[in-house]
Amino acid sequence: MGIFPITYRQESGDVFIGGLRLSELAAAYGTPLYVVDAATIRDMCAAYTEPLAETYPNHMVIYAGKAGMSIRLLAFLKSCGLGVDVVSGAECLTALRAGIAPDRIVFHGNNKSLEELQLAVESGVTVVVDHEQEMATLSALAKSLGRRVPVMLRLKPEIEAHTHDYIKTGQIDSKFGLAKDSVMALAAAYKSDAAIHILGLHSHIGSQIFDTEPYYDLVDRMVDHTQSLSRVLGRDIEVLNLGGGMGIQYTAQDDPPVVSALVSGMAAHLKTACQAAGIPLPKLILEPGRSIVGVAGLTVYRVGAIKDIPGVKTYAFIDGGMADNIRPMLYQAKYTFGVAQAVERSATETYAIAGRYCESGDVLSHEVLLPTLQVGDLVVVYGTGAYNYAMASTYNRVPRPAVVMVENVQSTVWVRRETMADMLRLDAEV
Ligand SMILES: Cc1ncc(COP(=O)(O)O)c(C=O)c1O
Repeated sequence: MGIFPITYRQESGDVFIGGLRLSELAAAYGTPLYVVDAATIRDMCAAYTEPLAETYPNHMVIYAGKAGMSIRLLAFLKSCGLGVDVVSGAECLTALRAGIAPDRIVFHGNNKSLEELQLAVESGVTVVVDHEQEMATLSALAKSLGRRVPVMLRLKPEIEAHTHDYIKTGQIDSKFGLAKDSVMALAAAYKSDAAIHILGLHSHIGSQIFDTEPYYDLVDRMVDHTQSLSRVLGRDIEVLNLGGGMGIQYTAQDDPPVVSALVSGMAAHLKTACQAAGIPLPKLILEPGRSIVGVAGLTVYRVGAIKDIPGVKTYAFIDGGMADNIRPMLYQAKYTFGVAQAVERSATETYAIAGRYCESGDVLSHEVLLPTLQVGDLVVVYGTGAYNYAMASTYNRVPRPAVVMVENVQSTVWVRRETMADMLRLDAEV
């Protein structure tokens, strides 16, 4: 997978995605606009499911919904054979509403509320237990509801993945999960609890990871831990969840692994490690988010003004910014920019692409080389399918953009654009 959706093409100077001209989508739906290419998502799902179907049939690929979700997106992913991982009550409801079977929904989080745990138990989804207190609450809740909850125990694998500090989660000081000894003690304490069914372990080492080595280390370590868990519980372990985190290409400098090769490698590694440890093969769960939807998405903005500060910089002001894409401000994330029309013009001007929000830091990039821009031109930011809409806010009471899916020369609204009335919806009247 590269930087652009697989259906990207240029014709007569116009960019087309899913067979549709971006400028026509912008005219029809307004800007800013999130565009999602269904074919790219389908391809990415297949990059996980096809090699596993061949080499490791006992598996489940679940989409990490935190990367961005809507009912339509999840229903589409279901049709591609994926389950879903959720981290809040509303994400769980979205997955259920999309028709995802409860046994294909996994509920994460380090501080789930009682209401959320109740929803999880009542709907029969699997809960990833983060710590001892949560286990106690869950057990009491399940007993009071007369249910038995399937759980995975989140273990810190203590693997350093070389990624941005904020998105490293496998190390010992992480807020997520427990160290090995605590996990084993927890398992021992609940092994005879009638309300809790321990399926196995969960781990996740970080996000936007390019190296393959940490994943192979993870497999080895988690097989060791699964063996220990098996001894503690006195039985075979059914499941091993190795999380997500596979990186994608945002810019020409990024060099992520090929997903199908990584996944095949992990499956092969897992088989070898389980054989060496003398334990049966567990069901392998992977929960990629970004790599499923990231490259499929792009954002189209309209230029409202050009402000030249002679000898300093030239701003191109777009009609979105930090509220629909917080990642440059949050993680200094880099993107690939382009124009939607007359793309054959050579890129001769350097622009700072600044948003419309009332913050000096609201700049998507300080230096982008583009063809000369005019007011009304469309600027495109590629690779915005993950963690953009999901993290979008209504800062400055600017309504959030629509999400439109494109496929085979058809477009479908997956999430409608918010209106100004939506911005006032929750206010008490005077
Ligand atoms: C527990 C868990 N699983 C899966 C993911 C998905 O990660 P990514 O979107 O990088 O694949 C995350 C994200 O940080 C996570 O915290």
